[in-house]
Amino acid sequence: CGIIGFSGRREAAPILIDGLKRLEYRGYDSSGLVTGTGGSLHLRKKAGRIAELAKEVAARPAPGTFGISHTRWATHGGATDRNAHPHFDTAGDIAVVHNGVIENHHTLRNQLQADGVEFRSETDTEVLAHLISHYYEGDLLAAVKHALALVKGTYGCAVVCRHDPGVIVGARLGSPLVIGIGPDGHYLASDANALAGYATQVVYLNDRQIFQLDQDSWVIRNQDLDTVDAPLQDIEHFLGGGDAELNGFPHYMLKEIYEQPETLANAMRGRLDDSDSTAHFGGLNLTSQQLRQIDRVIMTACGTSYHAGMVGEYLFEELARIPVEVEYASELRYRNPPIDRSTVMFAITQSGETADTLAALRESKRMGHTTLAICNTVGSSIAREADGGVYLHAGPEIGVASTKAFTSQSCVLTMLALYLGRTRHLSSVQGQAIIDNLRQLPEKVRQTLGCHERVKGIAAKYAHVRNVLYLGRQYLYPAALEGALKLKEISYIHAEGYPAAEMKHGPIALVDADTPSVFLVPRGSVFDKVMSNMQEIKARGGPVIAVCSPDDEEVASIADDIIPIPDVPEYLQPIIAAIPLQLLAYEIALLRGCDVDKPRNLAKSVTVE
Ligand code: G6P
Repeated sequence: CGIIGFSGRREAAPILIDGLKRLEYRGYDSSGLVTGTGGSLHLRKKAGRIAELAKEVAARPAPGTFGISHTRWATHGGATDRNAHPHFDTAGDIAVVHNGVIENHHTLRNQLQADGVEFRSETDTEVLAHLISHYYEGDLLAAVKHALALVKGTYGCAVVCRHDPGVIVGARLGSPLVIGIGPDGHYLASDANALAGYATQVVYLNDRQIFQLDQDSWVIRNQDLDTVDAPLQDIEHFLGGGDAELNGFPHYMLKEIYEQPETLANAMRGRLDDSDSTAHFGGLNLTSQQLRQIDRVIMTACGTSYHAGMVGEYLFEELARIPVEVEYASELRYRNPPIDRSTVMFAITQSGETADTLAALRESKRMGHTTLAICNTVGSSIAREADGGVYLHAGPEIGVASTKAFTSQSCVLTMLALYLGRTRHLSSVQGQAIIDNLRQLPEKVRQTLGCHERVKGIAAKYAHVRNVLYLGRQYLYPAALEGALKLKEISYIHAEGYPAAEMKHGPIALVDADTPSVFLVPRGSVFDKVMSNMQEIKARGGPVIAVCSPDDEEVASIADDIIPIPDVPEYLQPIIAAIPLQLLAYEIALLRGCDVDKPRNLAKSVTVE
């Protein structure tokens, strides 16, 4: 979910709606705003995309120069007009927007209902509005503080009250919030990037801090309501490169797929060094002593970033000989793995805002481990909180299904494996060979994009199916998982990625004439093994689409359809193989009439647990 607020010398509603559009990546199943004039509050909220809210406000303007707003990714209660934020207390005096989860909302709700409060929504947030109202005696800040003291869970929230025109109060615990300072007034947002063009400076709220702002002033306080000093940062710093325009492409996803030769070049720019045949990174913040002491790595992430982490596992093992464990952030945060001080934790994340990844990072830091972020979004929560890290420099990724971030993450992990390998056993000749191969990668990706027309034809043949298997081994096992995830996310076809040989132990039962298998089978160390697995599928009447090396007659003689990709070393195959799989998912989703850039039920960044 995302929050925007404004109090100043301009109409609030257009600023709020524009800001919400920039936060749509955090969820887009409903949105709403409340603005204020004198002693009245004006509420508008709508299920559906922010465009629906904009239409509603165009038809029924919400006047006033202050307000708060919210775009939602539903947790408690369906995506309906009623459950959209803001939520009000019974008297209609206090309005609240909230990002996060109030875990004890059930208990609080029961207590409030016992006191006669009637609830109008199924959300956990509504309890906050009633609680604040309960404590309100003319001092909104104090009321918010008292209400939040009863809450278990996470929040980034903002509150306005009919009796305090122009005033916005809010607080943070676990969900990011920034205050923006601009010539027209003061702002509030879940993400500093959303304030670009409005605010010139931002100040980050820390957990358990509470703020108050109006058009002329802002203040941040701790739990005891003492004022805290907070550093101001210039907002230009946060504007990542790249642009957010479609540049003639019909969808962001397709534009981002086609950007990959460029984004990979950007990931490598200035980082490969022929003089010592290794990679260099500016922001790792580790001494060479610390680097040499790393004897174990834990990678944690969600979704596509998790698949990049799995690629990293193979890379670090082969090139750096460092044992790696990859764990879903949502699992790692509740585990208690025995880890010693020579373990480094990598958090891999495009947005830098995924709630589970952030929580896993914090848990690791608390235990005293070194944490590094591999992140795309400059200035994001995870980028700021990690001890060090590497930026992808891929520019904004707008399509909800991640594409260019995955290939850049895999590329950065290859460079990190090279770097760590070179501090250990990799010779300069081996290091230089990896550098030379990496340098050719953007051009190889450009060549791979040439498969698009062929992929379109294959998509047309299979767009009607209900199940697809994606199979690969070793480096291409995570690539198979990622291919399946892409199809699932945007076409709503059930797809499973599996290690090609392991499919004998279950998924093979699904195989029939209407269940195609996508095999990742370029030439390499396990080629013959994967070919046997392909035969096993063919023997059971399953159609086979093979992503293979150029001119591979052997594969062509067995597969129903082939997608040749350029030859690269095995450790770079996941990057190259990702391209046809992204295109295949895209073309199938288009044929099925799906909203490619904003698939149902998903969010670009899941900012709740
Ligand atoms: C969501 C997105 C995915 C993304 C995942 C992790 O599920 O829809 O595309 O891979 O979050 O996001 P992150 O920003 O942490 O990489």
